[in-house]
This record gives sequence, C-alpha cells and structure tokens, in this order.
Amino acid sequence: MKTELIDLKTQYRYGIDTAAEVIRAGGLAAFPTETVYGLGANGLNGAAVRKIYEAKGRPTDNPSILHVASKEEAFRLWDPVPEKAEKLMDLFWPGPLTIIGKHSAIVPPEVTGGLDTVAVRMPSNTAAADLIRTAGVPIAAPSANLSGRPSPTCAAHVYADLNGRAEVVLDGGPCRYGVESTVITLVGEPTVLRPGVITCEMLASALGEVNLSSAILSPLKAGETAASPGMKYKHYAPEAEVIAVNGTPESAATEIIRMYDAYAVTGARVIIAGTEQTKRFYKDRKCVILGDRDRPETLCASLFYLLREADKDADVILAEGIPAKDAGLAYMNRLLRAAGFHVVEA
Ligand code: TXA
Ligand code: MG
Repeated sequence: MKTELIDLKTQYRYGIDTAAEVIRAGGLAAFPTETVYGLGANGLNGAAVRKIYEAKGRPTDNPSILHVASKEEAFRLWDPVPEKAEKLMDLFWPGPLTIIGKHSAIVPPEVTGGLDTVAVRMPSNTAAADLIRTAGVPIAAPSANLSGRPSPTCAAHVYADLNGRAEVVLDGGPCRYGVESTVITLVGEPTVLRPGVITCEMLASALGEVNLSSAILSPLKAGETAASPGMKYKHYAPEAEVIAVNGTPESAATEIIRMYDAYAVTGARVIIAGTEQTKRFYKDRKCVILGDRDRPETLCASLFYLLREADKDADVILAEGIPAKDAGLAYMNRLLRAAGFHVVEA
C-alpha cells in the first residue's frame, strides 16, 4: 500500500476530504489530535476497525476510543448515557478527556474488544474535528504507532511506524499536549484508568470524588485483571533502555551524572532527559531538556517526542522523575512504562 502524506498547512481541504473519503470507504487514515496522532477507521464498520489492529500489530482485546464531533453523536454510542457524563462533557469537551459508558447496539465488537463498554472522546484539534464531521461517522482511533512503541506526536513519527500500513497520513504539526487523553470510566464509581492533562484533581472538583486505578503507577500483579485492557501490555518502549531517576533536582542530577559516567566508560551511548532546573549540572554530557519541573504539562508535551528522537542515537536514556501530582501523574505514568518500571530513587 502506498501511503500519501498530506501537509495540512498547504493542503488543508484536500487533506481532510481525502482522509474522510478513505475512512468512508473502509480504509485507514492517520490524523493529528491535541494529544497524540490517531490511526482512524470508520468506527461503525467492524471490518474497517479490524484493519487498525492489523496495521498496528495490536492485540484485538485492547479496545479503541471512538472520536466524535458533537455531544449528540456521543449520546448515540452509549446506552444508557452515564449519569455524570453530561457534566464532564460540558466542562471538558471538546478536549483530551475520554469517557467510558455501556455501549449501544450500533457499536461493533471490534471497537470494544468484546467488552460491554465503549470509550468516547470529542477532540478539540480543528483538523480532527473537521475530519470526523466530513467523514460523517464516529472514528475509531488508537494512537498511530506500532503497538508497544511511544505514541507519535508529529507526522514524521507516524510515518516512520505506519508507512505502507495506512492510506493517508495527515500532517497537522506537533501535538499540543503530547500525552494521550485522560480516560475515566463512569460504569460504577467514577475511576480514572489513564491520567492525562485533564487531571484527577480537575475531575474530582467536578464530580466530588474520583478513584484512581491501581495500575497507574505500578505494574499489574500476576493474576490481576486490568480495568483497562491496554494496561496489561508493554507500552511506550523505545529501543534504548530507559531508566527513571526520582529525586529532588539536585539529588536526581547527582545520581544521573554518576550513572552517565559509569555507562559511558563501558562504551554505551547515553542521553540524559533533564529539566530546566537541572540542565546546569549536566554541562558537556549529552542531554535533552524535557521542560520545567514546576509546569509538568511541559514535560508531558515533550516526553514521547524526545524518547523517539533520543532513541535514534542512544543505548541508554536517563530521565528525571518528578512528583506524581497534577499533570506530573500523567508524565510519571508514561515514563514508568517506557522504563519498564526500572526506577532509581536518588
Ligand atoms: O488521546 C488519545 O486518547 C489518543 C488519541 C488518538 O485520541 N488515543 C489513544 O488511544 O490513546 P489508545 O487506543 O492508544 O489508548 C486507549 C486506551 C487503551 O489503554 C484502552 O485499553 C483503553 O483506552 N480503553 C478503550 N476502550 C476502553 C473500554 N471500553 N474500557 C476500558 N478501557 C478502554
Ligand atoms: Mg496507544
């Protein structure tokens, strides 16, 4: 299959129309959202959704999110509409929040991985919204990476994984948030299954109280079933070995320098993923800056991008851990998985 890469800066209408046509015809189109790029198919067509799983090498029991362009479209996908959904939709849609409820009869089993629930989100990215509206159907879309790899936050990273596996890739530039949407289930007690830039603190102030899935900051224990099937699979892993180093800026930097120098004498190529607060410590060691520790959303925005870039010329990536609160929880959730839970406390 030949993959057409279309730059939305210069060919916006052509790009949206082409991708919408591909999706209506049962094919695959990758598109930007405000979180990460998605690999989309007609979400009401089971055969089309199956192609997503083949293209990504994704296990078929890991359900996909349905993307909609209006609240009314979401109402048709749930039965019943969860009681607290409207409140969350009013506050956070369009935007990076995915809401899970019991699915209606029009949702094919390929989307839900056989569960009785469906995850729905309304993206705020203009191109994503235009694409859904033009296609005229909900778009099923996981992140547009090969299964297990870091989610793509620019079209070049999508293309590197999916060239030859999708009809179209729309290039809408870098993604604003850089980590995937917050996932909350409203079946039973409201529970956050995956943290994001819409934080647990924000959701708790809207709903009174929310639970946090136990798998957010720790691996599933043997025999434990995943609330969200995605959590049981290897995730976000670059080829390089990633090690998370937790501590204050000073203690983390001191430990990272010690580890860097120890790896370097073995001939390993090491890159430090540091922060504004620590970059002065690393001097002439190889280092990329993730962002500002006091604004964890800046670390979210660059993590996947920098993991993929550093992966091109590193064997080991030493990345700073930060406190797991506010958007720091989303950052640590992704970093710990990228590191296979290899954490050093400094
Ligand atoms: O920001 C995002 O959410 C991006 C963009 C493209 O919208 N999409 C995304 O999709 O991250 P994906 O498939 O990579 O992650 C969806 C997560 C998976 O962990 C999946 O297991 C979980 O949501 N999920 C989907 N439907 C579910 C359901 N019915 N019940 C529990 N978990 C579900
Ligand atoms: Mg994904």
